[in-house]
Order: sequence, then C-alpha cells, then structure tokens
Amino acid sequence: MPFSRTQVGIVGAGPAGLMLSHLLHLQGIESVVLESRSRQHCEERIRAGVLEQGTVDLLIKTGVGERLKREGLVHHGIELRFAGRGHRIDFGGSGITIYAQHELIKDLIKARLDAAGQVFFDIEDVTIHDFNTTNPTIRFRKGDAQELACDFIAGCDGYHGICRSTIPEGVLTTYERTYPFAWLGILAEVPPSSDELIYAYHPRGFALLSMRSPTVSRLYLQCTPEENIANWPDEKIWQELRTRLESDEGWKLTEGPIIQKGITGMRSVVVEPMQHGRLFLAGDAAHIVPPTGAKGLNLAVADVRVLARALIKFYSSGQTSLLDDYSKTCLRRVWKVQRFSWWMTSMLHRFADDNPFDQRRQLAELDYVTSSRAASKSLAENYVGLPFDDSAL
Ligand code: APR
Ligand code: PHB
Repeated sequence: MPFSRTQVGIVGAGPAGLMLSHLLHLQGIESVVLESRSRQHCEERIRAGVLEQGTVDLLIKTGVGERLKREGLVHHGIELRFAGRGHRIDFGGSGITIYAQHELIKDLIKARLDAAGQVFFDIEDVTIHDFNTTNPTIRFRKGDAQELACDFIAGCDGYHGICRSTIPEGVLTTYERTYPFAWLGILAEVPPSSDELIYAYHPRGFALLSMRSPTVSRLYLQCTPEENIANWPDEKIWQELRTRLESDEGWKLTEGPIIQKGITGMRSVVVEPMQHGRLFLAGDAAHIVPPTGAKGLNLAVADVRVLARALIKFYSSGQTSLLDDYSKTCLRRVWKVQRFSWWMTSMLHRFADDNPFDQRRQLAELDYVTSSRAASKSLAENYVGLPFDDSAL
C-alpha cells in the first residue's frame, strides 16, 4: 500500500478544511486535504453567502480576500419586516459582506494549489485510524488504496462525514433540536429588490430576500419539511414571496427567471467535546445551525482559526495547552451562535402549534427589537459576528 506522511491530515475541502490548510501553510505547517467530491462539485455547490466582518478581515489579512474585496457586497444593516412595515437594524459602523460560499471555495482552492498545497479531490473510502495514539493514520483510495500518516487529523467533513461517526460510542454527547419547518430557496436572475437583506415575518410564514450579486437574487420561504419541490412551480413561488414580503410602503418585488430551487431542513446540533485524542472536529462536522442567522460558514471559519492557532503553538513550542483547550474554546462561541440562530429562527417563523398569543408575542418581540436601541444593538453585534481574541493569526 503506498504510504505518505504529513503533519495534519484534513478530511473535507469545505470552508473549514481549506481554510485550515491555508492558515497552517502560512506558518510553514504541512497538511493534506482529502475530499470525496470533485473539484467542480465543490466549486459550484450553492450554499451560504453572508460573511461576518471578522471572517472578511481574516481572509483579507491572510491574502485570500482580493476577489472578495472587489466583488463582495458590503452591507451595514438589515431590514426586519412585519405587519406590512420595514424596520432597519443598523450595524453601527461594522458590516457583513455578501459573497457566495462557492466563490470563497474557488479562492481557497486556487490559493492552496498555487502554493503547491496538497488538495486531492474524488477520494474514495476515507477511514481514520489510531487517533487515540500519537500516530494517527488516514486510509483512502485514489485508484489504489493508500495510507497517510499524520500527527493530527482534522475532521472537516461536514455533518454527513465519517470523522464524527468514527469516534467510539459513549464519547460524544449530542445536543439537538429539529425545527418543524424547512426553507424553500431559490436563485433568480433578477437584480435584488432591496439594497439590504429583508427578514420578513408574516402570518403565512417567514420569507427572506437575499442576494448574490447586483444581478442575482437569493430568496427563501418557510415551508413544511415534507414539502415537495415539484409542487412549487415558479409562479407559485413568486406569488408566495410577494404575499409574505408585502409592504404598505410602496415597495415592489422584482421577479425574474428562477435558475435553481431546493428545500433544506432546519436544525440546531452540537456535539461535545469537539476533540477525541488527536482527532479534532471543525465546522459542520461538529455543529449545525439553522440558517436564519447566516452563521454556518462563519462558525466553521471560527473553529479552524482556533485549531490553527493551537497547532501553530504546538509546532513552534511543543506546548499542547491550546490543543487541550480546543473544544472548550470553540464551544463557548458555538453555543452563543447557537443561541442567536435559535432566537432569530424562533422570532421569525410560524410554528404549527402556535396560537394567537404566540403570534402577538412574536410581534411584540419584533417591535421591541426594532424600537429599543439596546435590543437592536444586541442583534447587530451578533449578526456581524462576536469578537475574536486571536492576535496570533
Ligand atoms: N471523505 C472526504 N470528504 C468528505 C467526506 C468523506 N467521507 N464526507 C464529506 N466530505 C466533504 C464534503 O464533500 C464537503 O466538501 O467534506 C466537505 C465538508 O464541507 P461543508 O459541508 O461545507 O462543511 P464545513 O467546511 O464545515 O463548512 C460549513 O458549509 O454546509 C455549509 O452551511 C454550512 O456554511 C456552512 C459551511
Ligand atoms: C443567503 O443569502 O443564502 C442567506 C442570507 C441570510 C441568511 C441565510 C441565507 O440568514
């Protein structure tokens, strides 16, 4: 069996795996990224699109933000719309950047390959071994069966990956909540009908107006998890979006050709701890957030920022203190982001078992958030991203 060696073996070329590999490379630490899907698939898969200020700053600081600076759309607020009226939440000087996840993936893959980084696609049958020892290995097939020896394994293989499920039974505790609804999402070739994102609460359910570029809109509708996309012809989708985003203020939704549509379930999941021996879980492999707060990608980047810093300390000084604290450090942020995503989700969606009291309460909450300076500041602080304390990166 062909045998090779690296310092950090990374499973998965999503934002977590690629960013980790990039951050390590900048400090002279070698890694190999193993990805089961094709490069084209990774570069075209439609996912999230909102980057926190801290994520943007890190990408720019580490030399992968050139295109993002040119093409990203910087926003300084969002709108919460309810009872037919829009209310702007100002970010108070900070911002978010609209930049599609798959564009970021393209930039990261290019940066790694330009630097002669080892990122391998179309890898089959990845299995991880001996991560409870100082000599973990990863086995896989790329044509032949191969073995990669490493000092550490980073499980960046998303929620359906193999790393988390290889951890022996009884080690991990899973905390989860599944929501009784899903999002029907579309991509449409039409200029966004608003300069900023609109989160709408409506008696028929939640709707969101987002965008990918000055010519492409991204919109979502709350639906049931069992909904069949075949029952949603384009005209029905636009009609429902018109109804839920309706405003008494003369605003109009611009419609256009739908180029992609799909349904995504919603849940909150955290596994604890995020480490077992020399296996470190990062990103969706360790946690899922509902999309309402736009946090999934940002949380994945936050994890690998912590992991990169811990590995850099280990390789430069032999000290394991930051590695030992990896899970604890990440989970403090993860739980705060879970709380925010759950709160946004609960405030804005209709629940099947809610009653008029619950609806009045939701409207009061929206009224409070949009009229209290303290409450809107708190939303803004979480939305643009909680601060980091990692001057080392
Ligand atoms: N072997 C190798 N690669 C795998 C395996 C496997 N057995 N299983 C999954 N993968 C790959 C997937 O194909 C994917 O490219 O791991 C990668 C995981 O990437 P993401 O799912 O994007 O997860 P992550 O990097 O943690 O980023 C989280 O992505 O899903 C969105 O909304 C989510 O924005 C969040 C972000
Ligand atoms: C998106 O543009 O895909 C998007 C924006 C905001 C969210 C979720 C998704 O809260």
